[in-house]
Amino acid sequence: MNVGIIGYGSMGKMLADKFALIGESVYVSTRSEEKLKTAPAALHVCSSNKEAAQASDIVFVCVRPVDMEDVIRDIDGVMKEDSLLVSLNGSISFERIGEWTHRKASKVIPSVTAEIDRSQTLVTHNKSVTDEDKESLKKLLTHIGNVIELPENEMGMGSELVSCMPGFIASMFDVVCESAKKHTSIPDEQIVKMVLNTMSATGDLMLRNDLSFEDVVTRVATKGGITEEGTKVIYEHFPSTADELFEKTLEKRRKTAQWKK
Ligand SMILES: NC(=O)c1ccc[n+]([C@@H]2O[C@H](COP(=O)([O-])OP(=O)(O)OC[C@H]3O[C@@H](n4cnc5c(N)ncnc54)[C@H](OP(=O)(O)O)[C@@H]3O)[C@@H](O)[C@H]2O)c1
Repeated sequence: MNVGIIGYGSMGKMLADKFALIGESVYVSTRSEEKLKTAPAALHVCSSNKEAAQASDIVFVCVRPVDMEDVIRDIDGVMKEDSLLVSLNGSISFERIGEWTHRKASKVIPSVTAEIDRSQTLVTHNKSVTDEDKESLKKLLTHIGNVIELPENEMGMGSELVSCMPGFIASMFDVVCESAKKHTSIPDEQIVKMVLNTMSATGDLMLRNDLSFEDVVTRVATKGGITEEGTKVIYEHFPSTADELFEKTLEKRRKTAQWKK
């Protein structure tokens, strides 16, 4: 199968390089051509989006929302009759995409954890996508982690939970580490490694032993103990921050969805 990647930025590069590694024929194009000078030799570098789209059975459009309309309108006329168009953006609706093309279209939201083959990739499809298309797309995406199919109206919150979450987790623990630094002479780098390894191991422990967050809190925060002092602070003050976080991100998502040139 020929895979097209348009936009060789953070997501496009990650997908193109991964798909080439597993032996797919990958056709790439991007706006600033110099970005492709250091691309792996296995990629077919194209001189235009049209060239990449024309060659491909699945075309991933990996550009920002503001650039999506121009790219989709540009390639619509040259894509093969039966090719599948894939938007990497969760906010732009199939209704909007339908104003630019009447093709079979899916939306795919990977997360940066795809780099270590542990993405929780979200997918949703428009009505024209066949079961066979869904299966081929899923098979391809399974190489970068788990695939989760959601209805289109849940892609927003779904994206916050898997695709934005690495950023939320990193910023939360950045704050925690900055605070810890004020109270210790342990070197900064060591603090970060201690927290990161504990965070990662806690997630693995919960997944492996099917533990809930409450289970972990109960196991670590013994009644009247030191951990309990800390968890009390988190349960008292953090809910309002978490509420504000989702209110702000979902509002931004609504505005992005309505954006017009
Ligand atoms: N980053 C994430 O974790 C993530 C996760 C899931 C989904 N997404 C979605 O994936 C999409 C891409 O995000 P990103 O983080 O990869 O953005 P990015 O790093 O800015 O990459 C976008 C790339 O598209 C290129 N581009 C822009 N206009 C183009 C055009 N007309 N033709 C060809 N290439 C063009 C840009 O070229 P220049 O280098 O010239 O700017 C840039 O290389 C977005 O819609 C985003 O919402 C991102």
